[in-house]
Amino acid sequence: MTQAWYTSAHAQPEPHMPAGWRALAFESLDSTNAALRRIVEIEGDAAEGLTIWAKTQTAGRGRMGRTWESPEGNVYTSILVQAPEDQATAPQVGFVTAVAVAEAILELPRHNAPPPPLSHKWPNDVLVDGAKVSGILPEMVSGLDGGAWIVVGIGINLRSVNVESAAYPVGSLDSYKIDTTPEHVLTVLCRAISAHLMNWRERGFEPVREAWLKKAPPIGFEMTVGVPTGPVRGNFAGLDVDGALLLDSPQGRKRILAGDVLFTRGDA
Ligand code: BTN
Repeated sequence: MTQAWYTSAHAQPEPHMPAGWRALAFESLDSTNAALRRIVEIEGDAAEGLTIWAKTQTAGRGRMGRTWESPEGNVYTSILVQAPEDQATAPQVGFVTAVAVAEAILELPRHNAPPPPLSHKWPNDVLVDGAKVSGILPEMVSGLDGGAWIVVGIGINLRSVNVESAAYPVGSLDSYKIDTTPEHVLTVLCRAISAHLMNWRERGFEPVREAWLKKAPPIGFEMTVGVPTGPVRGNFAGLDVDGALLLDSPQGRKRILAGDVLFTRGDA
């Protein structure tokens, strides 16, 4: 990695960052997650709230090795968060972020239109009317000094995206009269994430879990969850105290720590 790459962030309209946060804007990047990882691992620049954003990504990454389509007009950002001392609680950062994303979306200007029908899909997706408008990709990284950090990648579809062979419906906020810019979303989003991180550190995961559950499917909702051993069908039974998905399957209650909700009753 060359210093030239790192300093190529150019002047774009700056989002207004929370105190102590810093944003670097790029016209185009391979992936904001990959770029922030390089900054932390190679440049050794690591501070909470260091934020990278790009107008487009040429190799946007999704969960489970998927690609994240990244045409111009949407939000592609990665935010650096100090990992908790207890590494077992690191996945909670994804839920903190999802709750902040949902809150930020509800704060965007929408020309007197009613609030969009937002919901959470486990673990960290945000849906509007059942279609995914935001995906979150948290990745652990180590700083040059050995410090533990989480690169939290966030994509928010402001405009429609053509995603072929998506395992789920994909939506965008412009369908709900939300007319905004990536810069404005970043301002609102970073403020919400900063506030929710502070709350989580002071008060723990329970308020985050409760906020997430308020927009979750109802208990008993039928769903299929993809796990490394294959799909599991069952009924939603809640979110455990550590963020695991609780699913009542024909084989009994399962606690799912890694996976993907593939279909819910309303789909397909
Ligand atoms: C998912 O699959 O749901 C997670 C998608 C995360 C996409 C965002 S876009 C900004 C950041 N950079 C990436 O390469 N991915 C994340």
